[in-house]
Amino acid sequence: MAPTLLLLAYGLLASAPLALALGSACSTPISGGTAAAGDPFWMQNIDHQGTSAFNPDPSTYQVFRNVKDFGATGNGVTDDTDAINSAISSGSRCGDATCSSSTVTPAVVFFPQGTYLVSSPIIAYYYTQLIGDARVPPTIRASSSFSGMAVIDADPYIPNGYGAEWYNSTNNFYRSVRNFVIDVTEMSATSSATGLHWQVSQGTSLYNLVVEMSTASNTAHQGIFMENGSGGFMGDLVFNGGKYGIWVGNQQFTVRNVTFNNANTAVYMDWNWGWTFQDITINNCQIGFDVRTGGLSESEQSAGAVAIIDATVSNTPVFVQTTEASTSLAGSLVLNNCQLTDVPTAVGVANGDVVLAGGTTTIASWGQGNVYSGTNNGHTFVQGNIAAPTKPGSLLSNGRIFGRTRPQYENYAVSQFVSVKSEGAKGDGHTDDTAALQSTLNKYSGCNIIFFDAGTYLITSTLTIPAGTQMIGEAWTVIMGSGSAFADQSNPTVMVEVGESGSSGILEISDILFVTQGPTPGAIVVEWNVNSPSQGGAGMWDTHFRLGGADGTNLQTAQCPHGSDSNSCFAAFLALHLTSGSNAYLEGTWVWLADHDLDNASQDQLTIFSGRGILSQSAGPVWMIGTAEHHTLYQYNLAGAQNHYMGLIQTETPYYQPSPAPPSPFSIESSYSDPSFPSGQTAAWALYVQTSTDILVFGAGHYSFFQNYAQTCLSSNSCQEQIVSVDSSSSLSIYSLSTIGSTYQLSVNGAGVISQSSNVDGLQSTVTVWTQ
Ligand SMILES: *[C@@H]1O[C@H](CO)[C@@H](O)[C@H](O)[C@H]1NC(C)=O
Ligand SMILES: *[C@@H]1O[C@H](CO)[C@@H](O)[C@H](O)[C@H]1NC(C)=O
Ligand SMILES: *[C@@H]1O[C@H](CO)[C@@H](O)[C@H](O)[C@H]1NC(C)=O
Ligand SMILES: *[C@@H]1O[C@H](CO)[C@@H](O)[C@H](O)[C@H]1NC(C)=O
Repeated sequence: MAPTLLLLAYGLLASAPLALALGSACSTPISGGTAAAGDPFWMQNIDHQGTSAFNPDPSTYQVFRNVKDFGATGNGVTDDTDAINSAISSGSRCGDATCSSSTVTPAVVFFPQGTYLVSSPIIAYYYTQLIGDARVPPTIRASSSFSGMAVIDADPYIPNGYGAEWYNSTNNFYRSVRNFVIDVTEMSATSSATGLHWQVSQGTSLYNLVVEMSTASNTAHQGIFMENGSGGFMGDLVFNGGKYGIWVGNQQFTVRNVTFNNANTAVYMDWNWGWTFQDITINNCQIGFDVRTGGLSESEQSAGAVAIIDATVSNTPVFVQTTEASTSLAGSLVLNNCQLTDVPTAVGVANGDVVLAGGTTTIASWGQGNVYSGTNNGHTFVQGNIAAPTKPGSLLSNGRIFGRTRPQYENYAVSQFVSVKSEGAKGDGHTDDTAALQSTLNKYSGCNIIFFDAGTYLITSTLTIPAGTQMIGEAWTVIMGSGSAFADQSNPTVMVEVGESGSSGILEISDILFVTQGPTPGAIVVEWNVNSPSQGGAGMWDTHFRLGGADGTNLQTAQCPHGSDSNSCFAAFLALHLTSGSNAYLEGTWVWLADHDLDNASQDQLTIFSGRGILSQSAGPVWMIGTAEHHTLYQYNLAGAQNHYMGLIQTETPYYQPSPAPPSPFSIESSYSDPSFPSGQTAAWALYVQTSTDILVFGAGHYSFFQNYAQTCLSSNSCQEQIVSVDSSSSLSIYSLSTIGSTYQLSVNGAGVISQSSNVDGLQSTVTVWTQ
């Protein structure tokens, strides 16, 4: 045993420097963190040079805030609530119900090691990252007299506001909370103590949190309360105790690597259009998932689609409980690779009926709902075993879908980081930073962690991130392409090249935002070429695309109000291209063409154009735990792709279509494997799959809410005819597919197969499984 393990370990260590050497020219390849045992997290002491380029006063606006500089003590005794909240709110930020969204007041609010006592909610303003020391995560402790909705509140209700809140829950973007222990155990067990009120949408993440709650049998505590919203990603979370580990209701979400210990109910699912849970551990609870089901229409919307892959459940009487017995589709369930130990009921109904007996066993592939295959438009309602997906070995680790937490470099010393500002980049949104960034990357990639201080870095030609690069931003550092290089849609040009073509090595990007300054009809925003020899070694975490809709982009209400059809309103040719030799781990990647202006209080709709969302030609492995919205031809296009795990993928069709209908204002480019549009198909494809093999889609929400900005098509689900197309030379399986507004949910070779009217399950229609 031991020699094998050593060899394996050696192999992993040896592969990194080799890979780095291929990609970069620096002299001393980085080979691990050198922080001393007692050092704080690098983020505390690195030079804080981040700025907000488009803030009215960038020279005084403070992006990085250490709560101790605002008077917080972290001594566990003093009430730190006011100090923390002033660290968050200072600098005319976006909140207090007077501002619905803004991109010009970003903040990182850092908590050094310690215990912070609070007596009322910490309010997470728009565009805020709350970050604890990742080496020893600080504790935020609610005092016994705590009063308010939750220890951390991302969307406060306005007192006496008749339900009004600070932010619109479906437009509540750009938040992250990570590296904390949230402790509510000093509050009375019967109080409704809550860790986080996380009513958010896209571009949001929770990472590396532990919520400690009462384990008394009458506990009323809950780890998360989320009553509505859109979005989003959360992962690497532990919930101990509580009546509910998490109480959640929201359009769609992806949850990965979450553990629930000693809760009454681990997950209460109030409503959804589709949620994917991946790698879930449940120990010593009464109920694992309590899912409110039964609503077949929008007015009685309940949990429409729950998909659980790779779960370990022990010593828990019921794994999944639905509120109503299902004899027809009313709450689609998919359970894949769920290992039960001492779980008498695998699936049951609140009235005590057992749908699937448990015990100590593994549920390989089980479903409740409508099952389809091939081009057969008829379905079977199933409560039983369903076809198991093909899971290529390259996507798995120990038999489960591989997952990798975001790199935070917590063991690296400050001296191991290189700041792009210290190396001469300005990040002011005006200076051309192409040369400064390129020389910094060339000089330090593979030898240092590249720190992109907060700011907007303008580039005017292709920036190449060499294989071997590990880079991290601050409050979503913006890399913005601009100018004539990206002006010609007949000659598209890459804005950011991730690894040169054919390159091999690791590559890590987190906390970055890719943006264009319009018009940029010829921009391929990111071309991903890198191939990592180690599993999941090349990836993006909490890194998003935001095309238009923000100050500095010239693609805002002033230039491109809703209904405009102007050549100045092109945002991109293609957002993200995974090329054939690449592999990629993408987690929390929102590839958004803005549908409204985040920096205009009216939040009016925009008309701007991005040709294509995500094109993957990769042979894999590729993990996509992300979303793409509003691109003209398609949101996801898999062309000759192999070995992909995709869950949950969420998309929306552009609101202006069919005027014009796709491909207009772009044209079909066969060199980019563009899809075709059969007659009647006058809107973008959400997912288009051509000659691709071993593709596993586990949770998809594809929505079409408008026709030329009007919503009258919605009630008849006729906003577009088709939305997902698979060709007959591909091999893939799709579980938990929900659509809204499309007549057909799935087509084969461009002809509709699955009609939404057979699968109505709330506002959305849900297909539990379709296999080729
Ligand atoms: C919230 O935003 C959505 C999407 O933009 C919009 O349809 C809805 O009307 C907004 N809700 C409120 C209460 O403003
Ligand atoms: C959000 O959820 C609350 C509680 O269920 C509900 O009262 C409210 O109407 C919801 N708001 C929206 C905009 O869906
Ligand atoms: C899962 O989360 C825990 C923290 O809760 C973390 O230690 C572990 O590395 C994570 N595992 C994966 C595969 O991300
Ligand atoms: C904000 O939007 C409103 C309504 O569309 C528009 O009249 C106004 O000019 C916009 N403001 C700016 C600064 O563009």
